[in-house]
Amino acid sequence: MTNISLESRLGNQVFPNLMTNASGVMCISGEELDKMLESNAGGIITKSATTNYRPGNPTPRQQLLELGSINSMGIPNEGLDFYLKFVLDHQNNEKPIILSVSGLSVEENKELFTQIQSSNFNGLIELNLSCPNVVGKPQVGYDFPTIKEELDTVFSVCDKQIGVKLPPYFDFFQFDQVAEILNQFPIAYVNTINSIGNGMAVDLKNESAYIKPKGGFGGIGGEFIKPIALSNVRAFRKRLNPEIQIIGTGGIKNGSDVFEHVLCGADIVQIGTELWREGTGVFDRLADELKIIMEEKGYTKLSDFRGKLKEL
Ligand SMILES: Cc1cc2nc3c(=O)[nH]c(=O)nc-3n(C[C@H](O)[C@H](O)[C@H](O)COP(=O)(O)O)c2cc1C
Repeated sequence: MTNISLESRLGNQVFPNLMTNASGVMCISGEELDKMLESNAGGIITKSATTNYRPGNPTPRQQLLELGSINSMGIPNEGLDFYLKFVLDHQNNEKPIILSVSGLSVEENKELFTQIQSSNFNGLIELNLSCPNVVGKPQVGYDFPTIKEELDTVFSVCDKQIGVKLPPYFDFFQFDQVAEILNQFPIAYVNTINSIGNGMAVDLKNESAYIKPKGGFGGIGGEFIKPIALSNVRAFRKRLNPEIQIIGTGGIKNGSDVFEHVLCGADIVQIGTELWREGTGVFDRLADELKIIMEEKGYTKLSDFRGKLKEL
């Protein structure tokens, strides 16, 4: 299978294979980021950064479930300086590193993007508009005028390559309206989807919630959410300007899930819950499984089938 390539391009970055971690998993501490560097992932994304260090929500705040995960982390992170230094230190690494940013207000994002603009970073920057787990803060991704305000603001201070992480949408009206806003900006890519917000998982034995913040409500990831992730990749691929690329995130557990994301239109994919469950060996397993499927189908590169889902 040596003639099968999983290489993919996103913006000005070439990923030796199309898989990275999903932000929040294996990317908070320097130790975790170093493990990602050593892994066979094709790239890395950092934990969504705020201006200052945040301890995040009280624990327990994350739990693996049989078919996925629930979490309400509250963006625990080291602060932008730490992640910006990491991406600058590894700027010429063969694995591209995406810098994720999640200010808690339009004003904070303006300052964060101003700081990034004045640095030498020349890779991809991701604006997270979809964190469901900050107590007292609604998800910007469900407030369409604020999406526009956020984008107007960051593009007014930063002319580097910017992508946007979106929450899942569930209605064609939402796909249409969000795509219409995104198409007005020189966005490099859309990353879809973040966790499905405010799910509930019950610990039957103890008759309790699994996690402490918000009375047990938390973001759902993993196998549970794949159909919603695929629908969002597909819906945005059909609506966005062709130059806006797509990261497919959500529910990837096997090589076939990666194949399905690409078939729906993903340029690269990210793995969250399954990386948490399995560790960085997941990238080797997924690459092997995907290559076997591609070989069976006679494909040698991702562009042979990207976006080519047949509609009946
Ligand atoms: C523990 C945890 C922390 C997360 N933190 C972030 C984050 O900081 N920024 C972000 O954009 N997404 C965050 N996410 C969402 C993931 O990046 C991903 O979109 C979601 O988990 C769906 O992928 P999966 O089904 O592979 O888990 C987090 C997910 C988990 C499980």
